[in-house]
Amino acid sequence: MRLLVTGKIFTRGGLVDASVMVENGRITKIAKVIQEPADQVLDYHGKGRIVLPGLIDMHVHMRDFEYSHKEDFFTGTSAAAMGGFTVVADMPNTRPRVNRPDVLARREKVASNKSLVDYALYYGVPEREEDLRDEIQELAIGFKIFMQHEFYTDRRPLSERVLEFASRKNMPVVVHAENPKFFVETEMGPVGTPEAEASAIRDIAGAASDMGFPLHVTHTSSEAGLRELTAWKDKTGLTADTCPYYLLLNAEKARKMGGIGKVHPPIKSSRDSEALMRGLKDGRIDAIVSDHAPHPLEEKRDPRTASPGFPGLETTLPLLLTLVNRKVLEVEDVVRACAVSPSRILGLAGVGSIEEGKLGNLTVVDLHRKERIDPQTFASKGRYSPFEGMEVEGAALATVVRGEPVMLNGEIVGTKGWGKNVKTWY
Ligand code: NCD
Ligand code: ZN
Ligand code: ZN
Repeated sequence: MRLLVTGKIFTRGGLVDASVMVENGRITKIAKVIQEPADQVLDYHGKGRIVLPGLIDMHVHMRDFEYSHKEDFFTGTSAAAMGGFTVVADMPNTRPRVNRPDVLARREKVASNKSLVDYALYYGVPEREEDLRDEIQELAIGFKIFMQHEFYTDRRPLSERVLEFASRKNMPVVVHAENPKFFVETEMGPVGTPEAEASAIRDIAGAASDMGFPLHVTHTSSEAGLRELTAWKDKTGLTADTCPYYLLLNAEKARKMGGIGKVHPPIKSSRDSEALMRGLKDGRIDAIVSDHAPHPLEEKRDPRTASPGFPGLETTLPLLLTLVNRKVLEVEDVVRACAVSPSRILGLAGVGSIEEGKLGNLTVVDLHRKERIDPQTFASKGRYSPFEGMEVEGAALATVVRGEPVMLNGEIVGTKGWGKNVKTWY
């Protein structure tokens, strides 16, 4: 299969008017003009259209297994394709949890049968030490530690085994950093304060500094958390991400949404958003993730008992491109946060930029396509959003995974099962 994509191409040397040939999944040629024949040609010349390196979302919940009523790998990766994401990294808080080799193998089976885009799998803190086996490296990209339940509880010794294993194997450890000692009771139930985040980052970064595992702090939500990240960054090489809603919303707005606005960590003040935006611009925040966390709408009604989280794969890119149009971000920031940094953090050398020899993962965007966010149009099973009704400018026009278009002009065109585990790429 030979796919030829033409238009304004985002390369390391800047935006160039060029053609990209992808042969059997790999970029074989980038040139001003390519004469060789192709099986399919996508011509994306036109004002405001840019071909970006395939975007990567390193924090999503594809659910499936016993939570497939919330989302499954087909609907979840369809949402990814619609939102311009070529790779998604799936969290292990499923039922059953992905923290045993046999469950990881089952996860791989389900994901490989149903996915449209490529995926990575995280492994959770196991119940038994013997479930930390070398073989998990064949399918898992790294570990996820939910500190509140797995570090500040009697499960701490097992988390420490994970940290040792990850140090030995040089596997990334992604943490949800909140210390329950600093939770407060609110109308949304008990929630973490800025100090809960800062304290947890301090504890885990201290461990990373002693032990040497690659630490990634996910969904950073506060200025206090960012300050702590900054203090440890050089010493530990830690990396961090945040989510669009921590940049764009504030606690007051979230509260007005009731259960819909509920997420962990909770959305904080405008001052926190502004600090996070500065951190993103200056590189202290490496990546942006959606934390795509769909739940049935019934579970979002009562704020106190509502399940935290919301779908985000179909809103993340339009929101970020809207910030580009508002001149808050540059296209380079979006590419860095959603392609370059995630590929580096996850060790995915084959993607992250458009270069000969890399995989043919591409995201074509229209910077000026205007839409109103309408959850009823989502491919995700989660049909609600804290951004419902917002006017956005900028959207994905095409999503190409290893040379195969999986979404074109708002239509899913990929085949279920095309998506592959990034660990089986080469
Ligand atoms: C996530 C979920 O629903 O799985 N919810 C959330 O509020 N972010 C869990 C998580 O990422 O912490
Ligand atoms: Zn989390
Ligand atoms: Zn999450």
